[in-house]
Amino acid sequence: MIVSPSLLAADFADLKGEMEWLNQSSADWLHLDVMDGVFVPNISFGFPVLKHVAKLCKKPLDVHLMIVRPEKFVQEVKDLGAYIMNVHYEACTHLHRVIGQIHEAGMKAGVTLNPATPVSVLQDIIEDVDLVLLMSVNPGFGGQKFIPHTTTKVKELRKLINETGSKALIEIDGGVNTQTGKLLKEAGADVLVAGNYIFKAPNPSEACAQLSAL
Ligand code: DX5
Ligand code: ZN
Repeated sequence: MIVSPSLLAADFADLKGEMEWLNQSSADWLHLDVMDGVFVPNISFGFPVLKHVAKLCKKPLDVHLMIVRPEKFVQEVKDLGAYIMNVHYEACTHLHRVIGQIHEAGMKAGVTLNPATPVSVLQDIIEDVDLVLLMSVNPGFGGQKFIPHTTTKVKELRKLINETGSKALIEIDGGVNTQTGKLLKEAGADVLVAGNYIFKAPNPSEACAQLSAL
């Protein structure tokens, strides 16, 4: 399983220490949750902070923008050296154009769906994206309970990907642990985001390895 630990649950007073164990761990990517207090009812961190994280982190950066008008920040995300830029379906009036802008900037493009947004809205964009990020909690906060219906959505998405020949990876975000992770893997997920399960564990590196081993 590809694992993307979410920085939101890290010790912000010791980002250097957090990046030290993470760089040595089985983590594949680092998931960065940018929130604007408008698209979601919370504010996390912005680019001035992430610039320092990017310098310390040796893993590819998986940026999840929970902001309105994410297309305004393609250059900022590119300047971080991000591997993938995820934008919310619900935040983009012209999603096809935004995906094109992300690709032109040389990054992988991901589209994210809130729990109440059906997989069927992806029908006409699935062949253009590199990843679909399904939210398994309502975005805005870490440490929430996994929404069980997500596994049904993963199966629907897997079917859509197979039918269209899309190469998109399926990533899941929210309430992921080894139990929910196992169900998600069985349903067809490729990538697991985990915040609290990893960063708040007595041994984060070991918790990360448990998810990698699923
Ligand atoms: C929630 C964020 C998540 C969050 C997940 O809005 O998108 O990435 O950090 O946290 P956990 O794994 O603790 O649910
Ligand atoms: Zn996220």
